[in-house]
Amino acid sequence: MTLLKRSDWYDIARDTNWTPSFVTEEELFPREMSDVFDVPREAWNVYDEPYKTSYREYVKVQREKDAGAYSVKAALGRMNFYKNADPGWLTILKAHYGAIALQEFAAGMSEARMARFGKAPGMRNMATFGLMDETRHGQIQLFFPHELVPQDRQFDWAHRAMHTNEWAAIAARQTFADLFSGRDAISVSIMLTFAFETGFTNMQFLGLASDAADAGDATFSNLISNIQTDEARHAQIGAPALKILIKNGKKEEAQKKVDIAFWRSWRLFTVLTGPMMDYYTPLAKRHKSFKEFMEEWIVTQFERNMLDLGLDKPWYWDIFLEELNDTHHGMHLGAWYWRPTVWWNPAAGASVADREWLEAKYPGWNDTWGQCWDVITQNVLAGRHDLTLPATLPVVCNMSNLPIVGRPGKGWAVRDYPVEYKGRRYHFGSEPDRWCFQQEPERYAGHQSLVDRFVSGLINPPTIPGVLAYMGLGPQDMGKDAHDYAWAESHRLKAAA
Ligand SMILES: [Fe+2]
Ligand SMILES: [Fe+2]
Repeated sequence: MTLLKRSDWYDIARDTNWTPSFVTEEELFPREMSDVFDVPREAWNVYDEPYKTSYREYVKVQREKDAGAYSVKAALGRMNFYKNADPGWLTILKAHYGAIALQEFAAGMSEARMARFGKAPGMRNMATFGLMDETRHGQIQLFFPHELVPQDRQFDWAHRAMHTNEWAAIAARQTFADLFSGRDAISVSIMLTFAFETGFTNMQFLGLASDAADAGDATFSNLISNIQTDEARHAQIGAPALKILIKNGKKEEAQKKVDIAFWRSWRLFTVLTGPMMDYYTPLAKRHKSFKEFMEEWIVTQFERNMLDLGLDKPWYWDIFLEELNDTHHGMHLGAWYWRPTVWWNPAAGASVADREWLEAKYPGWNDTWGQCWDVITQNVLAGRHDLTLPATLPVVCNMSNLPIVGRPGKGWAVRDYPVEYKGRRYHFGSEPDRWCFQQEPERYAGHQSLVDRFVSGLINPPTIPGVLAYMGLGPQDMGKDAHDYAWAESHRLKAAA
């Protein structure tokens, strides 16, 4: 059968706009679901998606992608790999699946919003494929860890995490609800697809895939780079929307939304990807640091993307560049210290050799973050593991819902950025976190961080065991040191030498 070339029919086929006669325009595209920028509907007619595909092509390619990922999984006899894998690597898998798998479904709902309420036919078309992409990502990232659940209950958190009040799950849920599910289609297109997906998913899905390949986990490496090929396509929904917003005099508002989404995404990556790359990945397999990955994937590429579109760098760019040296070290220290409160086993990554690597990648690490690890190491070597475990909760940021961290030791830089709003005091971990709140205080004011819930009496009994129960963590779920403190012995040998 002779087929027309896609370019011969695509523009006509995808133009599904019509003039409604039974309902009003406002009923068809309610402002709060569709476009809070109030760009006239005709202006969306010039929306031109850079990536064009047809349903026939899409299904064919996706079928091949799925077949590839599932057959690599089946061929490699994973069980042996996981029985012999470094515990730090298993930690990465558990943290990744729990944080990501269900949020893929949430991202699917956001794609669905663009597919229904986007005013540009091209956006609706791309987002329909995006919805199918995210459904696939959710399913495949639940299926892969599932076979590991009988070996290790923490893998069950691939499905459980987002249904609990565990602190990292609260942080992820509150952030993604703000950027993806609680916004109109046009805001979603620039906050989810442009800021989050073109900005950050490369880091998790390609940066980590290269670490996975080095660590010998071909199954996981193949899985996440396979997912990223979809992201690379549907992430392109946002850029043409930004062009239209800028052309219609909405640059300032669009810039603000990109800035909010970028900052909030950055914060989540400091607790998820930063520790994975600099601490959990076994040292011998670690090549680039988190900071180097960030500089390559985010600083250079995203900065160029923004400027090319006619946006500016976010106002906090210098703060962000400075944070590359510190924030994720603080998040890692916090996750390790509060390890019973996470569903993965944090690898300390603080052996003598690890510390040499950290000092080389982050000059000054030993005089700052290293000073905290000195004390922890002494306590571990003295058999006082009790002193390395939490007795209370950290101060938590009311925007990121993550601990407020700052550089310790020499060069001390720890501070809170508070705000009073309608009689309540809010605490923030940085100037940009506070700024996000100040842009739309009503949007965020009602949310209670884990610590707010603790203080207001929602968590009973108000003790660490009470908090662990509130977070849904049983004895088999709670994190412990991934290597059972073996890393500390290198310090004993060094001291003896
Ligand atoms: Fe996805
Ligand atoms: Fe996506």
